Amino acid sequence: MSVKEDVLRILNDNKEVYLSGEEIAGRLGVSRAAVCKAVKGLNAEGYDISGLSRLGYRMHIGDDILSIDGINKYIDKEMKDVFAIEVFKTISSTNTVLKEKAVKGAEEWHIFVASEQTAGRGRMNRTFYSPSDSGIYMSILFRPKLSAQQALLITTMTATAVSEAIDELFHIETKIKWVNDIYYHGRKICGILTEAAVNVETAMLDYAVVGIGVNVKAPVGDFPEDIRSIAGAILSEQPDEAVRDNVRNRLTAGIIGKMYRYYGMLKADRMMGESVADNAGKMGHQYGFMESYKRKSMLIGKKVYILSDESREELLVLDIDDNAALVVEHADGRIEALKSGEVSVRESQWERNM
Ligand code: BTN
Repeated sequence: MSVKEDVLRILNDNKEVYLSGEEIAGRLGVSRAAVCKAVKGLNAEGYDISGLSRLGYRMHIGDDILSIDGINKYIDKEMKDVFAIEVFKTISSTNTVLKEKAVKGAEEWHIFVASEQTAGRGRMNRTFYSPSDSGIYMSILFRPKLSAQQALLITTMTATAVSEAIDELFHIETKIKWVNDIYYHGRKICGILTEAAVNVETAMLDYAVVGIGVNVKAPVGDFPEDIRSIAGAILSEQPDEAVRDNVRNRLTAGIIGKMYRYYGMLKADRMMGESVADNAGKMGHQYGFMESYKRKSMLIGKKVYILSDESREELLVLDIDDNAALVVEHADGRIEALKSGEVSVRESQWERNM
């Protein structure tokens, strides 16, 4: 650990308490000048640390700066070595840059986390609004033994993991709009973008980069006009400081932990053998996260518009099957299982443009 990381740890563990430079230096066995330099570096990174010549240094409660230490603090010790986490203050797009790393051979569980994206991307070539300091923009690299057709399972798994992590941390109940949007109080608070490369010879995925964008707090000055009626944040009202404290680090760690658990289950299911796994849905085998995913669905039992390039049709959603396809009933009674990518879904009672 560097002096900066050590100083951060000590101040973070003693929030709102002034500690003298001498005391910190003594605890770490370094000079006071080294502590002073470390604090300057931390302030430059955005940490809210005040210094008074007579009292020393103090870090404030409510500080919510994404950092490796901040995230690691909430990750189980035995899991820490699995992940290669990189944290950026600003990046173009965590998905774009992590894909470049994947092409160069990076291993599974390489994770990029950013406080801000300047070129955040959403599904269907849309942009994803990613202002600084109010959200979490993260991407995780997987090398799953899945066929291209099964890539949807990665998105489904992620939506379940993120939704559950949010619920557990904030004691709320979020819902999933098939296939990859998370809603709270009727507002979209998270979008997921899975991008994958396929090995053409084997038709198996070479890698999948899953991008997760969570609106934790309402951005300063509100959301832009075009998404204002639909976008929301988990903490739409100004929360008290204890809730705000380290909230993005805690949620990032929570998401990673859940993803790790569910991905392990997915891998175990795959190891049950090619024939079982390829026909998992058909043979009645259910992936570990699917029950929770279905329980969280905001579409089952509702009428929705299915939009394709040429048409728009109103259908009743009956179910989500074990391969994450949307099971719908047409007006003529025909039942069909729809895979994402084929269609875009809008709830018929409140049509929105997103
Ligand atoms: C959507 O709602 O259409 C999906 C949005 C996905 C946004 C995340 S933020 C992290 C990652 N990097 C990106 O550029 N996009 C994804």
